[in-house]
Amino acid sequence: MTEYTPEYEFKDRLLSLGLARVSEAAAIASAKLIGRGDEKAADQAAVDAMRTQLNMLDIAGVVVIGEGERDEAPMLYIGEEVGTRVEGAPEVDIALDPLEGTTLTAKAMPNALAVISMGARGSMLHAPDVYMDKLAIGPGFAPNLVTLDMTPTERIEALAKAKGCAPSDITVCMLERPRHNDMLVELRETGAAIRLITDGDVAGVIHCAEPDVTGIDIYMGSGGAPEGVLAASALKCMGGQIQGRLLFRNDDERGRAAKAGITDLDRIYTRDDMVQGDVIFAATGVTDGSIVRGLRRVGGYIETETMLMRSRTRSLRRLIYKTPI
Ligand code: FBP
Repeated sequence: MTEYTPEYEFKDRLLSLGLARVSEAAAIASAKLIGRGDEKAADQAAVDAMRTQLNMLDIAGVVVIGEGERDEAPMLYIGEEVGTRVEGAPEVDIALDPLEGTTLTAKAMPNALAVISMGARGSMLHAPDVYMDKLAIGPGFAPNLVTLDMTPTERIEALAKAKGCAPSDITVCMLERPRHNDMLVELRETGAAIRLITDGDVAGVIHCAEPDVTGIDIYMGSGGAPEGVLAASALKCMGGQIQGRLLFRNDDERGRAAKAGITDLDRIYTRDDMVQGDVIFAATGVTDGSIVRGLRRVGGYIETETMLMRSRTRSLRRLIYKTPI
């Protein structure tokens, strides 16, 4: 793994608009597959388009969060080198999920996104494809106000106290999964409201950064570790805290961590451990969601909405793009 140094400039300003093109292309490619019941085809279309666009950028990029290992993913696999690699091209790490919410897309349900983030080489956690226990809140709170070591009840109480409200005024977002049943029962006892989502925890975590818009104060529960790094990238741009701890179910998964250079299996990663240094982030809506709206057909055009962010400036652009079908 390349050592990250804070001095390295990866031309984030120049590259950010190019990044929007990449997520737009992935989203548009999956348009015909929304609601068709075919997760694989939708994902493949988004992967192909994202890769083509990514290879047009003047970067020397390495996919650190991607579609899987080289032998299981022919394209955008972890370690794949992307970009034109012209002389002087910035050396960057890339985290991507061409279609975050393949099932959401196949079933035409809300919050499917095409997502990508980019940082200087060596700045992103090489998270193996295992589960990660996640906990996130928005900006404006003391560091470690809530932690993974607290019980769900303690987290709700601490957040309610800091917000000056009752636990029943807090809304939690979490994936609806049998593995979360105990946590759900405990959270119900605190009186907090719970927004259950069927998939898409990158969007779930991002919701916390804008509680006034989304109504969500805190995200908790386990989901994909790769998605954790993408969510950390978004919060790095928007403000907000996320903690993640890798979860291993067997030796094969522990082996994946070793391959990624991870030795402390119990480590809690903060946002800035997962994404050191500055990052740029783009998410284009595939289906309608509370962060960005989904693809639209307007006349003979297809229209996308992209959220494009840069951590260095804490800037956020919402880009509407229209192209003939
Ligand atoms: P995919 O788009 O790869 O299907 O991921 C969807 C997702 O819901 C992620 O957002 C989340 O991190 C993960 O799956 C949760 O995994 P699981 O479905 O195994 O609980």
